[in-house]
Amino acid sequence: MRNVTADNITDVFMGYFGEDTNPRLLEVMGSLAKHLHAFAKDVNLTHAEWQKAIEFLEAAGDISDAERHEFVLLSDVLGLSSLVDMINSTDKGTSSSVLGPFHISGAPPIEFGADLKRHYEGEVLLAMGRVLDPDGNPIEGAEIDIWQTAPNGLYSSQDPEQDTYSFHGIMTTAADGRYGFTTVKPVSYEVPTDGPVGDILRATGRHAWRPSHLHYIIKADGFRPLVTEIFPDDDPYLDEDTVFGVRSDLVMKYLEHPASDFPEGYVLSGKVNEPFLIADFDLVLVPEN
Ligand code: BEZ
Ligand code: FE
Repeated sequence: MRNVTADNITDVFMGYFGEDTNPRLLEVMGSLAKHLHAFAKDVNLTHAEWQKAIEFLEAAGDISDAERHEFVLLSDVLGLSSLVDMINSTDKGTSSSVLGPFHISGAPPIEFGADLKRHYEGEVLLAMGRVLDPDGNPIEGAEIDIWQTAPNGLYSSQDPEQDTYSFHGIMTTAADGRYGFTTVKPVSYEVPTDGPVGDILRATGRHAWRPSHLHYIIKADGFRPLVTEIFPDDDPYLDEDTVFGVRSDLVMKYLEHPASDFPEGYVLSGKVNEPFLIADFDLVLVPEN
């Protein structure tokens, strides 16, 4: 095509695909180009704005490394991560939610009742529940990969003061499907704002807060893996999570108990004589097929 115009550029683009192009790649790239071209026309994108967008992407690349995933963060604050999540979920079982950029693989195995709190200050929380199939039967051998922030609102990968796997662990369920561990009540925290994504949040008058949550990835043979998080119902940011991760079935009451109720089988180092919270939440997995 010698005469590429604003009217035909999308069709010209579509004509450039090779015959052997993977059909799904063709569909995805074609649709991306259509929407990108339509977007540029819709807003009458200027050279200066295009330049700024390129600089933004370059800055996101520059700040990213094995532990800093600025593009994931961008996708999160744009609502894209949550949307992809919803598109790929079923309406059975526990809702999934964003993985976020702070999951690290290789967390150590932990036993039922393990203490993730250790020497940290904070409200003692016993997180517990069962991993179930949709009929309510317990799933044995389910692996729950658990991670959360320390009381300072930082994940271990963000905080040189923490061990690599502090507030991380992988628990495997026994025949009763139960999981349970001692920790501190997570706090609301701000997603990182020291990079280009922070610039966007500030420029658009948005805050960076996420409501407090515990992250879980649950895997069991024959079931779809579930990436999810659970939220206490008293968090002030529940209705304005900056990464759109809240689903109503993931919000629950953390019940207060007197110290004398502390159950057998849960480890708690440090001060043991204080009231504590229980978050009792069943995780329902959907069969793979
Ligand atoms: C998180 O929950 O860890 C998270 C999710 C999205 C962006 C930043 C953090
Ligand atoms: Fe988180």
